[in-house]
Amino acid sequence: MKIFIDTAKLDEIKEAYSWGIIDGVTTNPTLIKLAVEAEKGKGRNVNMKDYIKEILKTVGKEGAVSLEVISLNSEAMVKEGELLYDKFNPMAENVVIKIPINTYSGDSSVSDFEGIKAIKVLREKDILVNATIIMSPEQALLAAKAGATYASPFAGRIDNYVRNNLGISFKETDYFDHSLVKTIAQEKLQNYLNKSNDEEIASLYTYEDIRKLADIGDNNGIDSGTDLVERIAKIYRIYGFNTEIIASAMRSARQVREMAEAGAHVITMGFQVLKDMFRHPKTTEGIRGFSRDIVPEYKALFE
Ligand code: E4P
Repeated sequence: MKIFIDTAKLDEIKEAYSWGIIDGVTTNPTLIKLAVEAEKGKGRNVNMKDYIKEILKTVGKEGAVSLEVISLNSEAMVKEGELLYDKFNPMAENVVIKIPINTYSGDSSVSDFEGIKAIKVLREKDILVNATIIMSPEQALLAAKAGATYASPFAGRIDNYVRNNLGISFKETDYFDHSLVKTIAQEKLQNYLNKSNDEEIASLYTYEDIRKLADIGDNNGIDSGTDLVERIAKIYRIYGFNTEIIASAMRSARQVREMAEAGAHVITMGFQVLKDMFRHPKTTEGIRGFSRDIVPEYKALFE
């Protein structure tokens, strides 16, 4: 199992790499923007090309760095993918091109199929591809069929979607409490049923609100980010797809653990979530106790 860091901030990447447990980096236009703004905030002028090269050098040949394209149609994405690959891959041979699984954004001039076509063509050219913004097992299945090297389900964003659909308020960093979410959905459903007579109950099946509660979160049977990753892993396992799952959009250390249990090949996380994985109050207490109990004779063993 691999751990990627989901940031373009060089200081975070270098720090995380110094711990010896990181296998790669995922970036996107938002993360690059944040990194450059942070550098500028420190009064440094950044040349983006050199900055990215420094990331690639830090990660080295053994790792993988995802760089995302910007266009929405397949031909342009293929060109951009090739461009990024030619420009940056020679640095450390670790570039992976990130292609959204579907670039449709509501504008009818873009079809739903641009991402998949670009993935297929880039893979035929032997360029590694990370199929990104995956929100369903169906999309992950298509990405694997197109030969994507990686598929990135955005688990954290699915948790938000489900809670929003259920009318549950939460903070971005709040752990997605599976049993609490389920209980709230069931309670709300029960409220509807309690208030309805027999005839109404029979017709509840057709109510949109009811369906949202019964199909927890109204997300096509996927009731959390963990559920999403688990199901993708199951499909890939059954059919022997080589595509690796990068569990993405992590919000907490506990969620990272759930992704590992769900069968993600890779988990990408921000620097804070990564740091949060280290701490446990009992470990801190244990260290305090051991440090307190070092007697002089034991200390002398190290001299
Ligand atoms: C993954 O490759 C993405 O960069 C990332 O995880 C997006 O997640 P977020 O913007 O919801 O945190």
